[in-house]
Amino acid sequence: GTADIGVTGLAVMGSNLARNFARHGYKVAVHNRSYAKTEKLVADHGDDGVFVPSESVEDFVASLSKPRVAVIMVKAGAGTDAVIDQLAEHMEPGDIIVDAGNAHFPDTIRRENALRERGLHFVGSGVSGGEEGALNGPSIMPGGTKESYDRLGPMLEDISAKVDGVPCCTYVGPDGAGHFVKMVHNGIEYADMQLIAEAYDLLRQGLGASAEEIGDIFAEWNKGDLESFLIEISADVLRHKDPQTGKAFVDIVLDRAEQKGTGRWTVQNALDLGVPVTGIAEATFARALSGSVPQREAARGVLPAEAGTWNVTDRDAFVEDVRQALYASKVVAYSQGFDQITAASEENGWGIDRGAMARIWRGGCIIRARFLNRITEAYERTPDLPLLLADPYFTEAVGNGVAAWRRIVSQAALNGVPTPVFASSLSYYDGIRAERLPAALIQGQRDFFGAHTYQRVDGEGVFHTLWSGDRSEEKQS
Ligand code: 6PG
Repeated sequence: GTADIGVTGLAVMGSNLARNFARHGYKVAVHNRSYAKTEKLVADHGDDGVFVPSESVEDFVASLSKPRVAVIMVKAGAGTDAVIDQLAEHMEPGDIIVDAGNAHFPDTIRRENALRERGLHFVGSGVSGGEEGALNGPSIMPGGTKESYDRLGPMLEDISAKVDGVPCCTYVGPDGAGHFVKMVHNGIEYADMQLIAEAYDLLRQGLGASAEEIGDIFAEWNKGDLESFLIEISADVLRHKDPQTGKAFVDIVLDRAEQKGTGRWTVQNALDLGVPVTGIAEATFARALSGSVPQREAARGVLPAEAGTWNVTDRDAFVEDVRQALYASKVVAYSQGFDQITAASEENGWGIDRGAMARIWRGGCIIRARFLNRITEAYERTPDLPLLLADPYFTEAVGNGVAAWRRIVSQAALNGVPTPVFASSLSYYDGIRAERLPAALIQGQRDFFGAHTYQRVDGEGVFHTLWSGDRSEEKQS
């Protein structure tokens, strides 16, 4: 075969990825379960470059130059295993199979193991940026062997987004590392989206502003520290009018946020690792709350609010407070997400370069933002930084906003506006910086009812108090 790379699974994401490769001068083998889609891609977009269509998997594999590289872009799940099996059947040791879908990283670890035993490279790769990104430059997070990256990496870097000429693609780490990092990216995406939604709600209820006016405020924010794709599109969505009714689009959309699972996976994994990703967790639960239909019906108009009414006297000051609270909460969400990457990288021996992850998220992906430069810089300054928030830049940036953050969270509580991520992020901030935590009492309770033991602040060893006896202390070890 002579094709440089192949793509199988030609729904929108796969087609766009194939077209992106073709536009960069690669000869692209294309395949889809139903041949009609393959034909349509070549008919509609043949101008993009050179495509080599195949009807069967066997021909598809045969059309690839060695060592072969085949990219799978199908809906994550059991379908992926079937496609991998079909490809592997016709491949030879040294060939590379790339799964570019949103696979769960434990599946990627399992698949990588199985294919390695057959001498094949399996690359689980995160790809972010939606349909537009796939076509014009996504952020790409490939895992797998370093060896596979030597062959594959330059092509992926070519088609990825660029920021200041730097590709938004780098080698992430072995087996599941790429899909893991994509998963955390999505978790952070959930937190970021929920934070923007809370800011919108605060401005709407606090100022009585229209959706359109808030869209204008967001557009203004997009010129500063908060500059990001999600703020930009939120401004667009808020300014959009429903063509049917002429109402603000956000007012005609059912307020139940759906999810496909990557945020949930992030939280489940964080629980396993014991990493407090409160922002991502609260954002995921906020979606679940919005979809709790019978519960919302039972509560609506029934649960007393006992809330005050907003009385914003200085409109500009209030907008600025919300902006600062949003920025501070956002830093917390990222700091927590990077803690999760750190913990998983240590547990799995992935050796993930955190600064490099922030660098490849600067462009192409859904969470792309100006602020990611600051994260890269922080990890460059201090490669083993234990807490992103403790980097001097972020300490100062968040410190400047703490007073505003407290005003917003407290006023929201007084006036009955739910702010799960603003509020939990502030709680996290106060918790992580605390001199002493009431965890000492938890230890006392545990020792009381279950002899679970505790340590002392003033000496080595593990102790138990004889709570139901004479309350003397025993040293356990
Ligand atoms: C991306 C997105 C992409 C997808 C999410 C949506 O990085 O391009 O994250 O992967 O849009 O999976 O997730 P939900 O449907 O769970 O909101």
